[in-house]
Amino acid sequence: MQTIKLSNGVEMPLLGYGVFKVAPDECERCVGDALNVGYRLIDTAQAYFNEEGVGNAISKSGISRQDIFLVTKVWISNAGEEKAAASIDESLRKLQTDYIDLLLIHQAYGDVFGSWRAMEKAYRAGKVRAIGVSNFQAGRFYDFAHYADIKPMVNQLQCNPLVQQQGIEPLLAEHNTKMMAWGPLGGEGAEGVVNSELLASIGKGYGKTAAQVALRWLMQRGIIAIPKSTHIERMRQNIDIFDFSLTDEEMKSIAALNRHDTGTVDFGDPKLVKFLIETYG
Ligand SMILES: NC(=O)c1ccc[n+]([C@@H]2O[C@H](COP(=O)([O-])OP(=O)(O)OC[C@H]3O[C@@H](n4cnc5c(N)ncnc54)[C@H](OP(=O)(O)O)[C@@H]3O)[C@@H](O)[C@H]2O)c1
Repeated sequence: MQTIKLSNGVEMPLLGYGVFKVAPDECERCVGDALNVGYRLIDTAQAYFNEEGVGNAISKSGISRQDIFLVTKVWISNAGEEKAAASIDESLRKLQTDYIDLLLIHQAYGDVFGSWRAMEKAYRAGKVRAIGVSNFQAGRFYDFAHYADIKPMVNQLQCNPLVQQQGIEPLLAEHNTKMMAWGPLGGEGAEGVVNSELLASIGKGYGKTAAQVALRWLMQRGIIAIPKSTHIERMRQNIDIFDFSLTDEEMKSIAALNRHDTGTVDFGDPKLVKFLIETYG
């Protein structure tokens, strides 16, 4: 598996498996399948309510803990130094481990600087090997990274051929922050990526699907990706992307698919912000 080096020297796999919307009672089977297929990076979150399933699958897999890269995220309701610190211990308990490889602030709302202080402490204490953020759009990211003591090592954003996120790249580079793509296939119900005629026609030449081309495109941009599937055949398909390369021309033609919009979620939409704060704040 190809890896990428974070700013603190920690190496993480470039491709992993995500478990958003994987039901708690199905999660153990899915993560078990993903590990069997060869994934070694697993992305979960406190808000997915399936950290226990991830922990069970890892502990039953027989794979050494150090060979797995485990990512989880602090949810909005746990924002603030004390609550975030307690939530990290709770995540460790649910995941049945004494360290998390990468811990992210899930969304940029609430007392994120308080959460960050708790995460920095956990990092210095060895409970976490790397820390970062998620869904911090350009301006929010820049402000946060500027004032944070330890700079975020990762920003996990929606990124795929329709939502390409090139605009934030220089700001991430300035802070040596790596991009990690959620929704790399367009997410549930977003058919645009896996049904793209352009991606399918490029894939045809390599015996690959549109989904594989989309993931390969992210790999060649140096972006970490965590596709989700509950189906083992698709898990196999999504990891089988390291035996072909897209040409510069193909990379350019995919760049033209960018819709230049916020993707399926606009984190700056006041209605969404109000809803999240009222529900979880
Ligand atoms: N930080 C955040 O706020 C955030 C938000 C969303 C997601 N995430 C993370 O990112 C991960 C991936 O994002 P996502 O789950 O939203 O979307 P995604 O991985 O882009 O797409 C998942 C959807 O694509 C389908 N699919 C998977 N492989 C396929 C293939 N080869 N061909 C056709 N369809 C395929 C899946 O269906 P089946 O399962 O039926 O195969 C599912 O409906 C999540 O699981 C989560 O870990 C993070």
